[in-house]
Amino acid sequence: MFSTTKKIGILGGGQLGKMLCLAAANWDFKTYILDPTPGCPASQVCTESTIGDFNHYDDVMAFGLDKDLITIEIEHVNTDALRALQRMGKIVHPSPDVLDIIKDKGLQKLFYQKNGIPTADFELFDDENALREAIVSGRWPLPLVQKTRTAGYDGKGVAVLRTLQDLETKLLPGPCLAEVLADIQVEIAVIAAQNPAGDVAVFPAVEMDFHPEANLVEFLLCPARVSSLVEAEAEALAERVIRTLHLCGLLAVEMFLTPAGELLVNECAPRPHNSGHHTIDSAITSQFEQHLRAIMDLPLGAGTQKVAAAVMINLLGEAGHKGPVHYEGAAQCLALEGVHLHLYGKALTSPFRKMGHATITADSVELAIKKADFVKHHLKVVAMEPLLLNR
Ligand SMILES: Nc1ncnc2c1ncn2[C@@H]1O[C@H](COP(=O)(O)OP(=O)(O)OP(=O)(O)O)[C@@H](O)[C@H]1O
Ligand SMILES: [Mg+2]
Repeated sequence: MFSTTKKIGILGGGQLGKMLCLAAANWDFKTYILDPTPGCPASQVCTESTIGDFNHYDDVMAFGLDKDLITIEIEHVNTDALRALQRMGKIVHPSPDVLDIIKDKGLQKLFYQKNGIPTADFELFDDENALREAIVSGRWPLPLVQKTRTAGYDGKGVAVLRTLQDLETKLLPGPCLAEVLADIQVEIAVIAAQNPAGDVAVFPAVEMDFHPEANLVEFLLCPARVSSLVEAEAEALAERVIRTLHLCGLLAVEMFLTPAGELLVNECAPRPHNSGHHTIDSAITSQFEQHLRAIMDLPLGAGTQKVAAAVMINLLGEAGHKGPVHYEGAAQCLALEGVHLHLYGKALTSPFRKMGHATITADSVELAIKKADFVKHHLKVVAMEPLLLNR
């Protein structure tokens, strides 16, 4: 369905929504955003935006009624309303049933287990007290990883429990799961796409390096520095997950590579993903264009890189800074060949807030890393009136 008149509704208007709208605009596709925040990133570039809560049944219903197709940029949305819209004949991708599995980490892990998809061993618990009991009685040895079943993001619903002392300070409240602490050599992600015809395309694996304090991906590298065998296995695994879920659209599959060469699926996200931002500047088809191709029932594009190497860094608000944002050093970084800057349109910065990203493309991984290091040290996301917060 290549249509410049059909109305594409997007639940969520953050940076992922903004970049999706920008890709849609290249083809004159019409995009409509539902988000609670006036002036949210996507509202600045979409066809029209509506203020409302994507978690609220009535808001989603009212929003969806005059749209032709509804998609998401965040999985924590009201799926009952999406199912009702589907019954009324609206096209909804990804499907609400798949969203229900993915937005609950417990159901997601059960899905992997049931389908023989390799993942770290786990157990579900009704609440933190049941988990504490399992630890104190010795049934679950420490260390382990505790994850809240719902509403976790950017590492916020994840606690690594190493000592009994951690039970007092780190245990997260509510329904949760315990997971074996995996021995991780490197974390990678593979983004796959599937269209309604069942065609699947995958992007090359990316390597993710984490910010030690913020628990956010800080540095992302494509191609990942893994063997071609691991690369092929990772791509095949991502394809298997998207096919097993019968998901239409994008699926980002986060994986751990263990020192023994085993791949474990950590979690997946049914939408454009932070680990695919580089594709805007480095791939034949960007992840955002690919998502549109998939949900609009168009032929999928190639995810192949156009350049030898790309490094993506998230531009996070500096610690100690809160207030109207200023991008210090941006001009200096743009003087470097291969530096591509993407800012999200957020007026206010705060510590570790994702304000934008930079992709550095180069002829070799080494050169791309060197330039990314320069950008990391020279491009600072600060408040116009600095040090408004104490460190
Ligand atoms: N079983 C595990 N063993 C070791 N480390 C883990 C395990 N599970 C998670 N982690 C670490 O914690 C990080 C965050 O976990 P996870 O991806 O499940 O949380 P999240 O909040 O959904 O993250 P994000 O939104 O950043 O993707 C992982 O990227 C990994 O570094
Ligand atoms: Mg994750």
